[in-house]
Amino acid sequence: MGLRECLLGLAALTVASKCSYSPEPDQQRTLPPGWVSLGRADPEEELSLTFALRQQNLERLLELVQTVSDPGSPRYGKYLTLEEVAELVRPSSLTLHTVQKWLLAAGARSCHSVTTQDFLTCWLSVRQAELLLSGAEFHRYVGGPSKTRVLRSPHPYRLPKALAPHVDFVGGLHRFPPISSSLKQRPKPQAVGPVGLHLGVTPFVIRKRYNLTAQDVGSGTTNNSQACAQFLEQYFHDSDLAKFMRIFGQSFPHQASVARVVGKQGRGHAGIEASLDVEYLMSAGANISTWVYSSSGRHESQEPFLQWLLLLSNQSVLPHVHTISYGDDEDSLSSTYIQRVNTELMKAATRGLTLLFASGDSGAGCWSVSGSHQFRPSFPASSPYVTTVGGTSFQNPFRITNEVVDYISGGGFSNVFPRPSYQEKAVTQFLSSSPHLPPSSYFNASGRAYPDLAALSDGYWVVSNGMPIPWVSGTSASTPVFGGILSLINEHRILSGRPPLGFLNPRLYQQRGAGLFDVTRGCHASCLNEEVQGEGFCSGPGWDPVTGWGTPNFPALLKTLINP
Ligand SMILES: *[C@@H]1O[C@H](CO)[C@@H](O)[C@H](O)[C@H]1NC(C)=O
Ligand SMILES: *[C@@H]1O[C@H](CO)[C@@H](O)[C@H](O)[C@H]1NC(C)=O
Ligand SMILES: *[C@@H]1O[C@H](CO)[C@@H](O)[C@H](O)[C@H]1NC(C)=O
Ligand SMILES: *[C@@H]1O[C@H](CO)[C@@H](O)[C@H](O)[C@H]1NC(C)=O
Ligand SMILES: *[C@@H]1O[C@H](CO)[C@@H](O)[C@H](O)[C@H]1NC(C)=O
Repeated sequence: MGLRECLLGLAALTVASKCSYSPEPDQQRTLPPGWVSLGRADPEEELSLTFALRQQNLERLLELVQTVSDPGSPRYGKYLTLEEVAELVRPSSLTLHTVQKWLLAAGARSCHSVTTQDFLTCWLSVRQAELLLSGAEFHRYVGGPSKTRVLRSPHPYRLPKALAPHVDFVGGLHRFPPISSSLKQRPKPQAVGPVGLHLGVTPFVIRKRYNLTAQDVGSGTTNNSQACAQFLEQYFHDSDLAKFMRIFGQSFPHQASVARVVGKQGRGHAGIEASLDVEYLMSAGANISTWVYSSSGRHESQEPFLQWLLLLSNQSVLPHVHTISYGDDEDSLSSTYIQRVNTELMKAATRGLTLLFASGDSGAGCWSVSGSHQFRPSFPASSPYVTTVGGTSFQNPFRITNEVVDYISGGGFSNVFPRPSYQEKAVTQFLSSSPHLPPSSYFNASGRAYPDLAALSDGYWVVSNGMPIPWVSGTSASTPVFGGILSLINEHRILSGRPPLGFLNPRLYQQRGAGLFDVTRGCHASCLNEEVQGEGFCSGPGWDPVTGWGTPNFPALLKTLINP
């Protein structure tokens, strides 16, 4: 078939394989554990699909990320507005026109775009969607902790070849909602502490360890704000937050409720993850206006994380700091999806948003590739354009003193993203000086290494569904704590007429850990085999891929991050 027939195929919808391409041939489509198929969806049923349109000027975007985030650059802190980002990356009119024409011909209705015009979300019937995306076949699945129902295709999809220069990928077919970073309740340590010692991490313990006084709270005179994002039907309850603050919030001024919920806040059972995020973001970043992105209650065919990215590109006024406890195995995602999400994270960086991702709760991770074991990096933790937060425990579980590695702390080296220049020196130094390096076949030493920072992740008290729950652990706990502390630093920056911190990594690595407690003891978990015996990387002086540069010492960190 020649080009002419292929172009006709575009209008006729029936696409011979010669005239089509597969945008995500490497996307994993195996059913994740905990999900069950309920059979094929009714052809007349409605679903919504998200089309990621090809953007422009990505080299310029990269340059801008670097200049606005580098304290040595005259453009440092001169962030772009959403409209300026749109101006830069907006797809060409040929792309917009071609994709719209194709969707219209397929009978797509009510397509919604975002400010940057690089995503389109459209409603179609299952029948239309299966014609449009040749090979796709929609089935209904149920799974996850809240028995969520989703529509997904167990088969790959193809698009007309004429769309190859215009569409990155189609969202809503393959990726299942994330099972959030497996927050765990760990058994309480043996031994009962004498009077005067703490029995688990509370806001008091966090604020004491990280040197926050009762005066280190939001002033209420700036419009500073912070946010956390929840996926997979995770709700928080206002009443849990109120009860948490009644029990644990006596020693510092704080806000009594969340300022804004974006998305739908379901009525269901509260999730421990959601309760934890809100309670600790608002205890560390105390008295700072807090938003919650709640992507639950949306349509069955949507991908919650993708929907959150769309929201970022459709809201011109956003909180400065976002904490996200979401991650997938890097190897389970298609490379087009990973690259495009990475571009979305760069868009956020040029706008001066600080995005903090949990590093994950499986240490270095482990999987088997053609019979040999390797560590397993997680994404977006491995993106060079986010700040990734690992986890620590107290060396003495009952005393507010030194921190050591929490063995679950996610960390390692990306197999997708090469090492960014900002961490060149720190990572080479680690690789050449660590006395406990795992065999080189287990990790890709040339990749982006993470985490960048850490905070306590072990033994938290959370109030959920009216009940105080002890010993909740995971990097989902350390991430909002660090987020709140960066919001307090933003508060001081805004009060002194400076821009918010934005994408922190270039500055963080330039300052080589100033203002942080260096965590130098302990190793994280990995493959349980003879070769590595459950040990991944080990922390040491300076940066390491277990706890990054370390944990916050607020007054010292404020000093190093207040100017310029
Ligand atoms: C983006 O925001 C506009 C204006 O509020 C809205 O009409 C549109 O539906 C939004 N886009 C998406 C994809 O939700
Ligand atoms: C902060 O905390 C550490 C350890 O708890 C302590 O040694 C230090 O003096 C405190 N203050 C400052 C300003 O660093
Ligand atoms: C906390 O914020 C409120 C406004 O939301 C403000 O009136 C109050 O002064 C702040 N508290 C402190 C201690 O700064
Ligand atoms: C904060 O204030 C600035 C300057 O007054 C304004 O441009 C911005 O929209 C405000 N942000 C929020 C979240 O209200
Ligand atoms: C190692 O990482 C680089 C990027 O830094 C990548 O190009 C390469 O494919 C990776 N190797 C493996 C075996 O995954």
